[in-house]
Amino acid sequence: MVNILKPNNINFQQCMDKCKNTLLDGGLVIFPTETVYGLGADARNDASCNRIFEAKGRPQDNPLIIHLGNFSQIKKYAFVDEIPHIEKLKKFWPGPLTVIMNKRETISNVASAGLNTIGIRIPDHFFTTKMLEYADVPVAAPSANISGRPSATRISHILDELGNKVDLLVDGGNCKYGIESTVILPDDHKCTILRPGAITEDDLKKIFEKVEYAKEGAKVMAPGMKYRHYSPEKSLYYCKPEKIEELYFEDNGKSLFIVTNQLYHKLKKNSEGKNIISIGNRDNPYEISAHLYESFRTLDSSPYTSGYIESFQEVGYYISIMNRLKKAAKQL
Ligand code: TXA
Ligand code: MG
Repeated sequence: MVNILKPNNINFQQCMDKCKNTLLDGGLVIFPTETVYGLGADARNDASCNRIFEAKGRPQDNPLIIHLGNFSQIKKYAFVDEIPHIEKLKKFWPGPLTVIMNKRETISNVASAGLNTIGIRIPDHFFTTKMLEYADVPVAAPSANISGRPSATRISHILDELGNKVDLLVDGGNCKYGIESTVILPDDHKCTILRPGAITEDDLKKIFEKVEYAKEGAKVMAPGMKYRHYSPEKSLYYCKPEKIEELYFEDNGKSLFIVTNQLYHKLKKNSEGKNIISIGNRDNPYEISAHLYESFRTLDSSPYTSGYIESFQEVGYYISIMNRLKKAAKQL
């Protein structure tokens, strides 16, 4: 059985020591963040980083994000002073932002997948931020899921998938945002969003003259973008709420319907509604993102052969939610 820690006020220091020692010994630690759970190893250690790729079945050319506990730790691992507007960007840390920087030799080339850049992130979590600061180890970590599967937002998602492949697991509760960090590549004139997340285009426009999204299919800037992602095993389709309503009454209980509170109550009024789940208030994208991946997992473990999920208009943070939906599901 894998060792599971549940940090609290009493065992906090002990938990930090356990994580630090496991990382320094070359072990794999699964830890909570405000976005999704991470599968971490010492980013200076080739062998440990290799173990991450093996455990996840991750393609070797997809680099790992480097997690640190505070801003002053970055300079040991990356050329942070070169980054335009870093003084303003750092206000998002600790938080769901990953910034691509030129790397120093101190970080393993396995972690960076041979690139001369790395993504740096300072996660915001009551335990993990303090642990990373205290351990003073740069932690290379992708999301804690088998490659291609939805990221894990609570410990129960992880046990079956990765429980026997790691040395330590930290249970830090449910992840606040539920989707992965925003990954950006800043330059003097513009900021390119390689992966949208909870730090939005609008947030970045307050800092950069120009903000654009990396084009998929064009030159691959975030190598991870070319791979299949976040998908449930069963077929999932997304469509507008009006269409979902129509499909629901034609379906005769064969599929699972993943909807927002508003539609949930409407459908429930006119049916038994066993095959409907709600992922939150339609007007609250944070609630929706927090339950998105969990709903994919609910579909997979349900008796239903396929699922339908409500889509959203692409504005603000909903852009990030739709980015994941489009990768996980087919449009109807
Ligand atoms: O919220 C998150 O970012 C979570 C938690 C655990 O921190 N981590 C995460 O890692 O989502 P992962 O490995 O699943 O996704 C990392 C993404 C990939 O698309 C990868 O290609 C991109 O970031 N990336 C990492 N390093 C890069 C680099 N040097 N240049 C371009 N893209 C990079
Ligand atoms: Mg991932």
